[in-house]
Amino acid sequence: MLNQFKERRTIREFQPVEVERQKIEQLLEAAIHAPNDRMREPWHFYVLQEDALGQYRALAREFLEQRFPTKPNLVEGSMKSIEATPLIIVVTSKIAADDEGATYDNLFAVSSAIMSMWLMGESLDLGMVWRTRGVGFVHEGPLHEFIGANEDERLVGTLCIGYPVKRDLPEKKRTSYIDKTTWV
Ligand SMILES: Cc1cc2nc3c(=O)[nH]c(=O)nc-3n(C[C@H](O)[C@H](O)[C@H](O)COP(=O)(O)O)c2cc1C
Repeated sequence: MLNQFKERRTIREFQPVEVERQKIEQLLEAAIHAPNDRMREPWHFYVLQEDALGQYRALAREFLEQRFPTKPNLVEGSMKSIEATPLIIVVTSKIAADDEGATYDNLFAVSSAIMSMWLMGESLDLGMVWRTRGVGFVHEGPLHEFIGANEDERLVGTLCIGYPVKRDLPEKKRTSYIDKTTWV
């Protein structure tokens, strides 16, 4: 079990191979079993494939070009990273009206759900990157509107998923838990 956590990696390059519907459903099934406060089940999943993915790419390009008008290399580099992505799942979390605590708890629950999808994906030979910045643009308006999310939903992650291109990844570096733990 510990090895599964140690070996989990972010994958940014994918083979041009479709992800089977049955595998996508297993990712979603894994997600909905995540813990969540008061059973609010605050998540929603927007699955983008084929035509929707094409529209997403066009939107991402428009967004990046507006955002970084003097950085065409950055725009092209970012676009390249999503050109061979066969599947994107945008995950949202419910904003609780007038209850900041519940809104945060919802975000924590949705983060747990994403982690479940990640590990489930790896067990199905799929790789994933959880994007928020750049082409992930979860903190900006247009993606929210494009997927048709409601006003009380906040985007948490743009999950780019597919079969990994096999290549050596940079070493996984982490600070020891010893330096991150206070035994109170
Ligand atoms: C909340 C969150 C947001 C992230 N946003 C991005 C992103 O916008 N672009 C990206 O390339 N990677 C993103 N990542 C992936 C991290 O960069 C990656 O997890 C980190 O480099 C560690 O690599 P590892 O997952 O292989 O251990 C994000 C990860 C998390 C948890």
